[in-house]
Amino acid sequence: MDTNNRKIYIETYGCQMNFSDSEIVGSILSTHEYTITDEINEADYILINTCAIRDNAEQRIRKRLRELKALQRKRPHLKIGVLGCMAERLKDALMEEEDNVSLVAGPDAYRSLPSLLKEVDSGHKAANVLLSEEETYGEIDPVRLGSNGISAFISIMRGCENFCAYCVVPYTRGRERSRDPKTIVDEARRLFEKGYKEVTLLGQNVNSYRWDESGTMVTFPQLISRVAEINPQLRVRYSTSHPKDLSDELIEAMATHDNICKCIHLPVQSGSNHMLKAMNRKYTVEWYMDRIEAIRRRMPDCAITTDVIAGFCGETEDDHLQTLELFRKVGYDYSFMFKYSMRPNTYAHKYLNDNVSEEEKTRRLEEIIKLQGELSLESYRRDVGKRFEVLVEGTSKRNKAQLFGRNSQNKVIVFDGEGHSKGEYITVEVTDCTSATLIGHIVK
Ligand code: SAH
Ligand code: SF4
Ligand code: F3S
Repeated sequence: MDTNNRKIYIETYGCQMNFSDSEIVGSILSTHEYTITDEINEADYILINTCAIRDNAEQRIRKRLRELKALQRKRPHLKIGVLGCMAERLKDALMEEEDNVSLVAGPDAYRSLPSLLKEVDSGHKAANVLLSEEETYGEIDPVRLGSNGISAFISIMRGCENFCAYCVVPYTRGRERSRDPKTIVDEARRLFEKGYKEVTLLGQNVNSYRWDESGTMVTFPQLISRVAEINPQLRVRYSTSHPKDLSDELIEAMATHDNICKCIHLPVQSGSNHMLKAMNRKYTVEWYMDRIEAIRRRMPDCAITTDVIAGFCGETEDDHLQTLELFRKVGYDYSFMFKYSMRPNTYAHKYLNDNVSEEEKTRRLEEIIKLQGELSLESYRRDVGKRFEVLVEGTSKRNKAQLFGRNSQNKVIVFDGEGHSKGEYITVEVTDCTSATLIGHIVK
């Protein structure tokens, strides 16, 4: 093995935050004697950035670790490291349970990866799962992994302190902390100068972004405005807003900047006040609906998407029906829908009873999925006949003669795009749709 230029392959699971973190890891390691490769068969190390949000996310990673044993038999020097939320949750125990793992590093420990890899090189196993109250990787310029050269993620904060009863994130990602706005705006500006046209600002609850700038507080609406003002040709998105904190100021900032995309992801989790209380979400259905109305009043064309959990502890049939009713009322454009999965050490694990049967969870989830399918189709049908500005992302996978891109509402539009290319803004009129794609033609 050439010890001066070892190749690292990074494989990422989980949320956008994890994808963004992998780019930070890539950056930290590219500055040392390592190269990031996208060819797994050339790798000297495979780093798996993991998710712990639901049991099936962890099972998938364990299965992947077993699969990788075959590759390790062929290439005995190949070492495997586990990063991210599952690493943080299981700590050293992960290396006892999975005997082909030599390195474990939690989300706040990535600066120590070069020294952890050295320990592994000298034949030891290495772990660092310390969580930090300050680490934001603020000044690190991430390498863009698997990027289309058009859209990029920018982490603006880390951690979460909301402690929703079901959720493992506060334990895997630690205290909430915001990143210096100057480094965020600089990163966005550098991306724009390199030809990127869209950035997504990431945090578990972006509304609690806060940075003391010589005595005055920079809040999220101010931060997103600063990023939007870099250039009107740079689209700005964000994720995720917690409904309890979605402010009128943020709605106003979105409405007054054309390039802040008109799409809000507002995870509701349940349509029942009884469940919301048990989940420690700190808002009611009435509060949530008031926020939806505030969005619609100011931005009638804004898409609204959500996350929902079926079968949380103590959920009755009536609670479930209230969730369906709320879905109909809001008419979500799209949702991420999950079956409740008990996570060790969370409040729900310690104090509540996971008493909805697996079959019942499945049935409720299927009902929500079916309803969302209808709502999505209605939402896409309403767009037929409308014109949208589309940011072109590439050629359609199904038909090479066609281009695809997204509108401000984050809906994918496919169209004949002869003579145009990736990164352009084009006006497209929608002529047809499915429940997941709009189909259109260029308006000359
Ligand atoms: N910070 C974001 C959510 C991050 S996790 C927010 O609060 O909105 C993404 C989604 O996974 C959550 O919104 C929730 O719907 C789901 N989720 C989290 N923990 C879960 C669990 N234990 N079982 C099932 N789904 C869960
Ligand atoms: Fe989890 Fe709640 Fe934090 Fe979201 S806000 S990451 S659901 S604890
Ligand atoms: Fe994200 Fe999964 Fe961690 S959703 S924050 S990678 S537990």
